[in-house]
Amino acid sequence: MSLKIALTKGRIEKPVMELLTAAGVDCEPLKNKKRKLIIDTSDDEYQFILAKGPDVTTYLNSGVVDIGIVGSDILTEHRNEQYELLDLEIGKCQFVLASTKDFEINKEGRRVIGTKYPLITQRYFESLGQDVEVIKIEGSVELAPLIGLADAIVDITETGTTLKENNLFIYDYLDKVSTRFVVNRMSLKQKAREIYSLVDKLENVIQNKKLIK
Ligand code: PRP
Repeated sequence: MSLKIALTKGRIEKPVMELLTAAGVDCEPLKNKKRKLIIDTSDDEYQFILAKGPDVTTYLNSGVVDIGIVGSDILTEHRNEQYELLDLEIGKCQFVLASTKDFEINKEGRRVIGTKYPLITQRYFESLGQDVEVIKIEGSVELAPLIGLADAIVDITETGTTLKENNLFIYDYLDKVSTRFVVNRMSLKQKAREIYSLVDKLENVIQNKKLIK
């Protein structure tokens, strides 16, 4: 029985492929996928689909894939309902509150916050006892305080380059983020042996990477 895996496309694709390859998964068809949307490994043990992070959770919840490889930012924002079995310890980044130089963090009045993560943002400001207006933005969130759409943003940062190049400053650090291996509950019952076999191999690779560091 092949395992169907939804993999988040974009910046984690490469490190995930490296990890899977080290765990013995044949990732050559994935590397050479061109415009193909469904990619089978040559031994037919695995079938991959590449999707946007929020769609990975949709596929997982509907049961059309067994496994999702997706960031903890997406899992928190979309209230993950499935089993998170592994922290792959890649795609590491962090949520921050950021804005322009003149932003006054303790100023009176209702702030406008731009973000791709409205739930996480609301929770953060609730924890501070502050009422804010949250505006959902789909991408390039850093634009919001620069063009006057929002007072500040809540977004993830990895290298800090985007903030720096746009003269934005960090005012607070929120949760850390990393890539997780999540399994559909029903699949875990039906394909337990195959899933745990892959989990064991990945765990070994992750532990070995730590030893080498
Ligand atoms: C994310 C995030 C920042 C950027 C930060 O966006 O929303 O914009 O990465 O990375 P850095 O700290 O390494 O500069 P992403 O590139 O995923 O896409 P988006 O801008 O389309 O949201």
